[in-house]
Amino acid sequence: MTTLLTTPVPAATGDLTLRRGAARVLLTNWTGSSTIPSRGLYPHQWSWDSGFIAIGLRHLSVRRAQRELESLLGAQWADGRVPHIVFNPAVPLDAYFPSPDFWRSSLEGAAAGAPAGTETSGIIQPPVHALAAWLVHLADPGTSQRRGFLPRVYGALAAWHDYLTGPRDLGGGRLASVIHPWEAGMDNSPCWDGPLERVEPMRPDSYRRADLDHGQPAERPTDLDYGRYVRLAADYRDAGYTDAPGRHAFAVEDPCVNALLIVSEHALARIATEVGADPARHQERARTLTAALVERLWSPDDGMFLCRDVVGGGLIAERSVAGLVPLVVPGLPRHIVRALVSTLTGDGFRLGEVPMAPSYDFSGAAFDSSRYWRGPAWFNTNWLLERGLRQYGHGAAADALREAMLTAAGSSGFSEYVDPVTAQARGTRNFGWTAALALDLMAAAPVADTESDHHLTEDETT
Ligand code: SER
Repeated sequence: MTTLLTTPVPAATGDLTLRRGAARVLLTNWTGSSTIPSRGLYPHQWSWDSGFIAIGLRHLSVRRAQRELESLLGAQWADGRVPHIVFNPAVPLDAYFPSPDFWRSSLEGAAAGAPAGTETSGIIQPPVHALAAWLVHLADPGTSQRRGFLPRVYGALAAWHDYLTGPRDLGGGRLASVIHPWEAGMDNSPCWDGPLERVEPMRPDSYRRADLDHGQPAERPTDLDYGRYVRLAADYRDAGYTDAPGRHAFAVEDPCVNALLIVSEHALARIATEVGADPARHQERARTLTAALVERLWSPDDGMFLCRDVVGGGLIAERSVAGLVPLVVPGLPRHIVRALVSTLTGDGFRLGEVPMAPSYDFSGAAFDSSRYWRGPAWFNTNWLLERGLRQYGHGAAADALREAMLTAAGSSGFSEYVDPVTAQARGTRNFGWTAALALDLMAAAPVADTESDHHLTEDETT
């Protein structure tokens, strides 16, 4: 079977203007060692953003794409966690909240193995990195080998997965748990509304949100949600960023996080083979995780995967796109693939009728077409769905989704997310992974012009 790791992607529409626009975003957002998601709203390095950005950046500069991942992994903690933000010390403290003086990672995280010389957050984000590293390698295996890229990142990626499948198996069912909505990457997904009710919000006058300096309040999480995010982060910090079953007020097994872990574990098996290590433990872990995903998170009645509330117990009855992302996982039972495709194209998500899949079920009570992860369509989840559809033989649907994404990326100014019906821009503009994934979708496309104007020279990449 072809998989996300091997699927040949046929050529998309080769639009040179779109390519140049996407390249410009990545060049502008490059800091010298990594890429910021956006100039105003997210001025540091974000973990899963860097993974998706590397996947697109490899088409501009393989060396920059390698550097993107290596700079993130350079901030890894000794316990294996890859932090969700690596702070740039040159950026003023008040440019983003929570800032380094909130997390105090080098101090409060010292026992957990936080680096002494770099400030980071103490939480994580979805593990897309081994997949990204493998795809970056595939873009130019010769340069990758010459620079020893895979041998340099293999140990760090394996330790990252050890952390997720070890200390983060909080539910005891062999899946990784997230202990904060920010860790799932889908901050204000309606899936968290129930579990968050147990969390006492931090007093609003005890901190200042910086995101509203750059984003529309109607497109961002509410103040009540923020108060709870800050409480959970502060409690984790005050406990020295240690993980233990029963310790966390919020712990959830999320199907998107675990699907990315599985795909990345498959990638790690290939990386292991390349570097002369034994791929068997990664293959075995991918199998175990896939079985656990199906056993613990599949909901036949919903025709999709749901999140599991590890603290309160039971599946969470909210249908978010996270539950469809496992379409990227290879080797799923056929009845599950059929159900996922049917749910994706059915009344709840309407793919085909609307250009891109929404982040949350159109008919869900909490649906909001503008507010962050409560309805808008995002480019990373749709990129994953595109690859998943292609992997399972739905080439025409994948082609249509790809065309829709490219159109939306260009017409929205590479926005962070879009209205799921009209594809109008929402969130910030010139957003890193939107540009990067557009480049990736276009990568196989023929272009009329030479490629020299959007490939960086060796000098530019140092
Ligand atoms: N997504 C969060 C934010 O909006 C944190 O990762 O800042």
